[in-house]
Amino acid sequence: MAFDKYRHYENSVQTPEEHVRIFESMFFQIRRKEALRLREDFCGTFLISCEWIKSNKLRTATGIDLDPEPVAFGRKHSYSKLTSTQKRRLDLRLQDVCVPTPDKHEIIGAGNFSFNIFKDKKALKKYFSAARRSLTPDGIFVLEMAGGPGFIAKGREQKTYTMPGLGKFTYYWDQKSFDPITHFGTYAIHFKDRHGVMHKDVFTYDWRVWSIPELREVMLECGFKDTKVFWEDPGPDGSGTGEYVAMEKGDNAFAWIAFVVGIK
Ligand SMILES: C[S@@+](CC[C@H](N)C(=O)[O-])C[C@H]1O[C@@H](n2cnc3c(N)ncnc32)[C@H](O)[C@@H]1O
Repeated sequence: MAFDKYRHYENSVQTPEEHVRIFESMFFQIRRKEALRLREDFCGTFLISCEWIKSNKLRTATGIDLDPEPVAFGRKHSYSKLTSTQKRRLDLRLQDVCVPTPDKHEIIGAGNFSFNIFKDKKALKKYFSAARRSLTPDGIFVLEMAGGPGFIAKGREQKTYTMPGLGKFTYYWDQKSFDPITHFGTYAIHFKDRHGVMHKDVFTYDWRVWSIPELREVMLECGFKDTKVFWEDPGPDGSGTGEYVAMEKGDNAFAWIAFVVGIK
């Protein structure tokens, strides 16, 4: 059987139930009510959207991606497992995230650092402005980002998984290059499959590594009223609780993930 890159990606990189929990918690912390309408930007196989609509029968989701290939994979797999009423609450759009959607959303979320594809401020502003226009009046725009010295240092991390249907396989995250002058970085994901066959550069990323203050400033320039940074609550022993809370000072971790939120 041919190597199935999206199944390996979904089973190593993604934890959609965590994103749903984090998105709903951030909206509740900011608006003190439950969010029902999500737009998942750069949705790929749209796992978060599927999880969102399964989490509450009133919830709707719109997944947006330019590439028909991962969306077709999602339709064949996750979408086909949804009930007919769940399917009716899910809208999939093959389009550029820089074009506003006619329907409005309480949360627009972009997972796994995908907005780093925008290499300059002009491109980033086009995206942020389009997202702002696609929010409800009380909507929030959530960017998942990563940083710290451990995110720009050259190096490779690996983790082995055993999953039904895929067997034992290894995921590699490869930080290939980073330029401190431009902040351009190249990254790749490789997999070694259950048969020990190495699949190199299965996914590659050519990014600009934006900083938190840059994102906050650009959000304000695009008309967002306020911004917040949700940083992982370190917990009593400092090892991280998996809960993200709004903070104005972070610990200087070697590598971190945070959520930068624009408030309409
Ligand atoms: C790293 S994948 C993200 C997959 C998944 N959302 C996740 O969190 O792991 C990035 C996706 O962004 C899509 N993409 C890139 N530029 C885009 C754009 N301007 N508008 C919409 N989708 C875009 C690509 O087709 C790709 O599927």
